[in-house]
Amino acid sequence: MPMTVAFFSTQSYDRAYFERFNASAGHRLLFLETPLNEQTATLVAGCEAVCIFVNDQCNAEVIKILKEKGIRLIALRCAGFNNVDIAAAKAHGIPVVRVPAYSPHAVAEHTVALILTLNRKTHKAYNRVREGNFSLDRLTGFDLYGKTVGVVGTGKIGSVFAQIMLGFGCRVLAFDVQENAALVGEGVRYVALDELLAAADIVSLHCPLNEHTRHLINAGSLKKMKHGAMLINTGRGALIDTKAVVAALKSGRLGHLGLDVYEQEEHLFFQDHSETIIQDELILRLMSFPNVLITAHQAFFTDEALSEIATVTLQNITDFEKERPLANEVGM
Ligand code: NAI
Repeated sequence: MPMTVAFFSTQSYDRAYFERFNASAGHRLLFLETPLNEQTATLVAGCEAVCIFVNDQCNAEVIKILKEKGIRLIALRCAGFNNVDIAAAKAHGIPVVRVPAYSPHAVAEHTVALILTLNRKTHKAYNRVREGNFSLDRLTGFDLYGKTVGVVGTGKIGSVFAQIMLGFGCRVLAFDVQENAALVGEGVRYVALDELLAAADIVSLHCPLNEHTRHLINAGSLKKMKHGAMLINTGRGALIDTKAVVAALKSGRLGHLGLDVYEQEEHLFFQDHSETIIQDELILRLMSFPNVLITAHQAFFTDEALSEIATVTLQNITDFEKERPLANEVGM
């Protein structure tokens, strides 16, 4: 029997890709625009699975309601699972599945886009030229060739990113709790986090958000970084203590900041707030810096990644329905 699946935080592109790939899977998909939280969890009545994204809140209370309403599977249509209380799901006997690798290239390439844009200021050049301003004043960048790049987390995304930066002729240092021998063979050198922070011209974060990595970049670690270094976060917002980063930008200690994720993003990202008064003072402060570039969690957003997300998520749901082993189950 096909599963009835409640989608939360549905965007037009989720619907388009899932409907296309569901033609063969044949599940019943109920698309809801609202995010999942304690108030909306009751909307799943009549469904057997929920499909959620990065900012849906799946805490113990939500999971309790989902269980009461008959939910048997939580399917994440993303890689990160920091927004799900895995222990609570387990206690209620609800498996959690995810899409572990839909396109590490998409995220790694967007990371490079942030670096190149911040460095060579193409976003400013684009606007200048459109206004007939052909001056190069204050558009000076630096050669990436020969610079030191520090990669924190060399899993699927971090290792692709490291390889791209090796291609630019950068010296690549890495920090991870598990070393990747293949990367060492390609020229990456693993060092302690403090050594990476002290040596890197560019620090890029690619580790998961968990109790060990929350605020990995804080006032103390920022002080250890090279004066004027660039910090890039395409991992999760809370890897960075945003207030400490603002202070480092104000003092000039941090030279550039590129963010695709933000600590308080669930109130802002994936929505059009252009006609409302944004209440988040911290993001407004960040937006005011000339050396800060923010994209709204779009690093994953390629045709290949969306196709893979839909295919693997639907396969995860079918595997559950047919009582096959769940290859992409979290925390097992
Ligand atoms: P992965 O699981 O392949 O790699 C994560 C790496 O981080 C592993 O090598 C792991 O050993 C390492 N790690 C774990 N704890 C660490 C610690 N305390 N310090 C240093 N390294 C540590 O994950 P993948 O696919 O590379 O994704 C990384 C993260 O990127 C995800 O957890 C997710 O939060 C984020 N992401 C962001 C996207 C976006 O659109 N901006 C899209 C996809 C993922």
